[in-house]
Amino acid sequence: MSPIHGMPSRAGVGLRLPHVEEAVATQPAAGWFEIHPENFLANPHATELLQDVATRYPVSVHTVGVSVGSVSGIDRAHLRRVRALVDRVDPVLVSGHLAWSTHGAEYLNDLLPLPFDEETLRLVARHLDEVQDGLGRPFLLENPSSYVGFTGSTMTEAQFLNALVDRTGCQLLCDVSNVYVSAHNLGYDARAYLDELPATAIAELHLGGFTPDDDEGTPGGVVLVDTHASEVAGDAWDLYAYAIDRFGVRPTLIEWDNEIPALATLLGQAAYADAGVARTVTREARVVAR
Ligand SMILES: [Fe+2]
Repeated sequence: MSPIHGMPSRAGVGLRLPHVEEAVATQPAAGWFEIHPENFLANPHATELLQDVATRYPVSVHTVGVSVGSVSGIDRAHLRRVRALVDRVDPVLVSGHLAWSTHGAEYLNDLLPLPFDEETLRLVARHLDEVQDGLGRPFLLENPSSYVGFTGSTMTEAQFLNALVDRTGCQLLCDVSNVYVSAHNLGYDARAYLDELPATAIAELHLGGFTPDDDEGTPGGVVLVDTHASEVAGDAWDLYAYAIDRFGVRPTLIEWDNEIPALATLLGQAAYADAGVARTVTREARVVAR
């Protein structure tokens, strides 16, 4: 088992609606599944199937609609709906994003960036307290994929995440592909970023595909877009190996949300992640034995 109680050390995959019936019917050899509650809240049939999945596999709930960065506050009605689903499927982990995606009753289709300063820190910490109280459990916060920075930021993203962990007791979901994408787009060192994160607070890792696109404003003329529409890139696998070295083995999720392939392809990516972990752990064991 992984150091996260109730989670296997094998990698899991994102369970999207096109694969739910197949997962129930075929019971594939998946380590665990992560779902977006917003896909299920208005779909009673899919929710019933999800409850079946949750009796056979560890499940993680990853919300895209609880917006901890919104100045207009947390949508408490939505938080209650997510809590109701959490109570039905009893997930091992519940997570969301360091971003804002709502303003009042307005739901935006993007996870938008925040400046990293003391005022935003107080706002996000207050909202995290509210979310953790509302869910009755710890919440994992995921680092964003970034395309712009704010000149007014007074701390780095990693310092901001460290401060949130200290103030709220939240845990962190480190999306390794997001670190790779952001480091490329904003021109910083991805490994130095991982070095700055508090290892004991990392409860989950993500890996997803990204897409290069021409962009004059980005160093080198290429922006990396976090599309979740392809296999994990080779350089992101290298950064994943570094993350495992740095944090130890953590539950790792393969995310694929657009141009979704066969479930077998996702499971193949998860198996590749497991093989990478096995290589890293074996190498560590050899070093210790010397
Ligand atoms: Fe992610």
